[in-house]
Amino acid sequence: MNIKRACVIGWPVSHSRSPLIHGYWLGKYGILGSYDRQAVPPGAVRAFLDSLGEEGYLGCNVTLPHKETVFDLVNIADEATRRLGVVNTVFSRNGELWGTSTDGEGFLASVEAEIAGWEVSGRNIMLLGAGGAARAIAGTLVARGAAQVQVANRTLERAEILRNDFGKRIMPLAWDAAPAALAELDLLVNTTSLGMTGQPPLQIDLGRLPGAAVVADIVYVPLETAFLRSARERGNRIVGGLGMLLHQAVRGFELWFGTRPEVTRDLHDFIAESIEKGYRST
Ligand SMILES: NC(=O)c1ccc[n+]([C@@H]2O[C@H](COP(=O)([O-])OP(=O)(O)OC[C@H]3O[C@@H](n4cnc5c(N)ncnc54)[C@H](OP(=O)(O)O)[C@@H]3O)[C@@H](O)[C@H]2O)c1
Repeated sequence: MNIKRACVIGWPVSHSRSPLIHGYWLGKYGILGSYDRQAVPPGAVRAFLDSLGEEGYLGCNVTLPHKETVFDLVNIADEATRRLGVVNTVFSRNGELWGTSTDGEGFLASVEAEIAGWEVSGRNIMLLGAGGAARAIAGTLVARGAAQVQVANRTLERAEILRNDFGKRIMPLAWDAAPAALAELDLLVNTTSLGMTGQPPLQIDLGRLPGAAVVADIVYVPLETAFLRSARERGNRIVGGLGMLLHQAVRGFELWFGTRPEVTRDLHDFIAESIEKGYRST
């Protein structure tokens, strides 16, 4: 019997929730398959990829710190990923390895899934942060027709790099200038690590943010950050980071196992429970 196999590689990799997500879908769709964790140290990535097929894997997810290394080692499947310079999903086709990045589309899909009727085209958006995740999200927002993406970052140079790479619709902004620039926004997104368990909170005065704006946070531990809670309490619609994690997994599962999986409330609650014991959606 032919078991379809995939895995996630990282160093460390024990924290990855991808096995739970893909394991859930394998069970749900009755697919004879497995999805494992593989701890691959820096320096061993090329050897691991070379032996991927021999190990019986159809592909893998890639987590820190290997996303850039893998980008240099596989064929790049699309122009958007070529611009990003990182790969989080590897799949094999006709004996060759191909790589793509699904973080940006995962973020956007999570907003579209949670805010009925929301479309990115023509929107004014602000990203707080300009790190790796912001890069993937900014690239997708511009490609999908956002009118303007302001990027406020503590280190302004990183926001300027995004403008150089993704064009004039990216507007770099000094971190302290963010509160005054909230007035015209349709979507405000925290992409920094602030607010994550163990990190300082994200503190920003939301006074000028329109009540109709959507507020998203890609941090998912905790499931609802203090930043999201304060946005919810002032009446904004909110989108938590777990949705991005779930939606970014969809394409890999489809590429490896041949079925496009659904991100359901039941899956959300199953993974949420692994993050916060006793979690129940309302
Ligand atoms: N939901 C998901 O699926 C998903 C996916 C990817 C990442 N994430 C989460 O997103 C967060 C960022 O990940 P990443 O990979 O983009 O990290 P990263 O590349 O290290 O970027 C971190 C960002 O946070 C900013 N930052 C850190 N400490 C700060 C502080 N004290 N004050 C102001 N800004 C600060 C950094 O600003 P500087 O440039 O000035 O250092 C940078 O913009 C993490 O919490 C990660 O878990 C979630």
